[in-house]
Amino acid sequence: MEQTLSDSFQEIILKRRSNRSYDQTIHVPDEVVQRSLERAILSPNSSNMQLWEFHWIKSRDQLNKFTPLCLNQNTAKTASHMIAFVTRRDLWKQRMEWHKKNIESEIKNGTPDKYQKRMLNYYTKIVPFAYSNDWFGLMGFLRWVVSNGISLFRPMTRMAGINDTRIVVHKSCALAAQTFMLSIAAEGYESCPMEGFDQVRARKALRLPRQAEIGMIVSVGKGTEKGIWGKRLRVPYDEVVKVL
Ligand SMILES: Cc1cc2nc3c(=O)[nH]c(=O)nc-3n(C[C@H](O)[C@H](O)[C@H](O)COP(=O)(O)O)c2cc1C
Repeated sequence: MEQTLSDSFQEIILKRRSNRSYDQTIHVPDEVVQRSLERAILSPNSSNMQLWEFHWIKSRDQLNKFTPLCLNQNTAKTASHMIAFVTRRDLWKQRMEWHKKNIESEIKNGTPDKYQKRMLNYYTKIVPFAYSNDWFGLMGFLRWVVSNGISLFRPMTRMAGINDTRIVVHKSCALAAQTFMLSIAAEGYESCPMEGFDQVRARKALRLPRQAEIGMIVSVGKGTEKGIWGKRLRVPYDEVVKVL
């Protein structure tokens, strides 16, 4: 029987396991990582703001530097590559301008159509309202007042302080990491996401600005049997899936 897209996807899902011990005699080709990063970039993300960066830790020197920052985990020690998935909420103005330019470049005869008007309004009014923050938390307070005020009359996205913005960018960044890991599995290699790392030291090593954060660091390599820690345990379907 012919293999369907669904069969192939199932195969990839079953194949992806977190691997903690790679075969160091096999180097994962750069093209595999590059292709997987290109796929990660296509991940869904909030308002298509793409407030993320993918730092490819590629050279032996850099891998050696980052291994202790990943607490000397074996998956880091034996990796061919590592990718730091980074959130960049500080880049919102840049992305807003990028969207504005893209929309404007599509406008014909100098007059935006209904859709373009809506998009311009979204990126020049809603986005600044949602993403701007200040030292005193005044914007967060204003968002809380406005969103909770509106929500008295109709369903409304509840927005408030910096932590809400951080959650927004981390959600999107994690989806990109997942796309990347599935792609690595589809390419015949293995990966392991790590939150076991020193955020402060790793941010410093990547020379990230204050508002940037590392969501996770993903190791990549040719996995071994030894690198798989036991059966794939999951709580039962009925316990986590609630059908309405
Ligand atoms: C956000 C996140 C952080 C993780 N951090 C680590 C880590 O630091 N070290 C590690 O060995 N595994 C880490 N894992 C892997 C999980 O332990 C693993 O995904 C889980 O046990 C399920 O196993 P599976 O990935 O093989 O299906 C992490 C997974 C996620 C999603």
